[in-house]
Amino acid sequence: MIEENLTSALDLLNKKIKEASNQIKYYTWCEAFVQEKVKHTMDVLAVAQELLSMRKVPFSNEQAERLLFGALMHDIGRFREIPLLAQNPASKHDHGKYSADILREEGLTDEAMLLAIQHHGHRTQDLETDILFRRLSAEQQTDCRQIFEVIQDADKIANWQLYADNPSMVNHINLVKYPPTKEISKEILQNFKNNEIADYRFAKGFEDFLIGSLSWIFEIHWLVSFQLLQKRNLLDRVFFQAGKDVNDPLLLMNLQRTAQAFLDLKLEELSQKEAS
Ligand SMILES: [Fe+2]
Repeated sequence: MIEENLTSALDLLNKKIKEASNQIKYYTWCEAFVQEKVKHTMDVLAVAQELLSMRKVPFSNEQAERLLFGALMHDIGRFREIPLLAQNPASKHDHGKYSADILREEGLTDEAMLLAIQHHGHRTQDLETDILFRRLSAEQQTDCRQIFEVIQDADKIANWQLYADNPSMVNHINLVKYPPTKEISKEILQNFKNNEIADYRFAKGFEDFLIGSLSWIFEIHWLVSFQLLQKRNLLDRVFFQAGKDVNDPLLLMNLQRTAQAFLDLKLEELSQKEAS
């Protein structure tokens, strides 16, 4: 039975990575995807640690370990999803749900943790309207939100960092699922202009997926996450790389302005809130 600490999390992670690797031996792109997700998991852990260290009001050691456990476990469901994709690349999966399923199978009964992990790839409102979330006590809901928020913020920052550092590494699966079209859907653009997460039902190609992944800035939660984005100059770097994938400099410049304006606004708004 799994315990909520990092040693236990790493043991389970290794077990699931091995199981996945054994099942996908003959699928080269899946092996690359497994490697990408192993790296991603460690990156998310590192970003989460950095975010926790940047907070003015630190969490207790116990809560910090809990948040890091969530970060480390959030994508364990990927190692169930990838062998299924090897069989059928067009099949659809909710890897967050698989992550929660695996933890349940290992005996975890902590609903706040399970719900935060299950919904980490969804909008905040999807978590908040989940009947299981509503049944939690107010204290458990706060705890669940904290886990959800650190996972989401660290997840997005780690993905953008990976893309900024090495675009060829990113999105093996997305290139398989969404081949480039040299176009961006007008619905996805409108979402971005409205400061909304992209509605992926309208995503047709890799370019839509890329703009969609950038749109997650509109659901970053913590002040320290915006500060880390700024410190690492990540917006500029990500949009610079995007210029290589999307051949429309004017459009990208407008999107970057929208994202930068949002970042500046949130930095001011959340700083004021923290000071008061
Ligand atoms: Fe994920």
